[in-house]
Amino acid sequence: MDLLGIETSCDECAAAVVRDGRQMLSNVVYSQIEEHRRYAGVVPEIASRKHIEWIDDVVARALQEADTDIGAIDAIAVTHRPGLIGSLLVGLSYAKGLAIATGTPIVAVDHVHAHLYSAALEHEISYPHIGLLLSGGHTLISLVKAWDEFEVLGATIDDACGEAFDKVAKHFDFGYPGGVAVQRLAEQGDPEAYDFPSPSLHKGQHPYDVSYSGLKTAVVHQREQFRNPRCAESDANVAAAFQRAAVDIVVDRALRAADDHDCKLLIAVGGVAANTYLRARLDESPVEALYPSLSLCTDNAAMIAGLGYHQFQRDGANSLDVNASARVRAFRAAYP
Ligand code: KG4
Ligand code: ZN
Repeated sequence: MDLLGIETSCDECAAAVVRDGRQMLSNVVYSQIEEHRRYAGVVPEIASRKHIEWIDDVVARALQEADTDIGAIDAIAVTHRPGLIGSLLVGLSYAKGLAIATGTPIVAVDHVHAHLYSAALEHEISYPHIGLLLSGGHTLISLVKAWDEFEVLGATIDDACGEAFDKVAKHFDFGYPGGVAVQRLAEQGDPEAYDFPSPSLHKGQHPYDVSYSGLKTAVVHQREQFRNPRCAESDANVAAAFQRAAVDIVVDRALRAADDHDCKLLIAVGGVAANTYLRARLDESPVEALYPSLSLCTDNAAMIAGLGYHQFQRDGANSLDVNASARVRAFRAAYP
């Protein structure tokens, strides 16, 4: 069974064709980074306008690269939440139009859930495992019990992990997105040079929740102390100490979650899963750490088509009145 996946929840305009939930026949991503770079972040209005311009071409390319056409597609899987509402509506409306015009069923897919499924496109996955989603928009530690069942154990209470990297990168004038540039500078510094704060838990807060707003402020204060004179060495040390703190916050909690829930496997996804310090920490931990290829770690439509296949098999098609929603569905584990 071949599914066409469509993903437009943020700034990637993506389409893919996936056979039987796993075999990627095509995986096309048009990145909008250049459109947003000079604003140092994603501008929602620009994102949705670019999706409108590009979606037709992206879908045509995905079908062409898969050597198929819409008549041979069994269902269209499309992201309907969470994300930027204007961007989501472009992909969802396009999918509905295509469905009506061709009589193809549609399946509405949750973007966060699809990220947690993404490793299954390349690997045999065992359950339960810890799913760690770290991107510019999301920071989630989840207990994944089956392909269709997961609980969010912890999440950020303010900035996402990638957003913290990007904010620090902006402070260093590294451009957007700046996570990789911060990592490169950090590689030249001493991570122990400063002890940046790790957020303390407040009463009633979930024990695996994380926070990044205080860390970014501490980095800015620390760097300002070197204003006169500031040297390359102190900048590298600040970047290294920031990276250590930013990654340790979430890795410590994720590893504790693995231990508490008796999970031997941890799957890290999202753009920050490319971070070398994060990988080193996970690789030396007692759990087995798995990372999908980078093209599946970041936003893509193959994960949407992959998860959509299983939903379609189990539940059939969604009705055409399915709506978009900006909000993350509450998959929270009950606590306390
Ligand atoms: O999943 P992703 O491509 O996109 C969305 O958030 O939609 O993640 C991008 C984020 C950015 O914040 C970027 O700075 C961060 O991932 N990132 C990194 C690294 N590579 C990408 N952060 C730290 N270290 C990296 N090597
Ligand atoms: Zn994403």
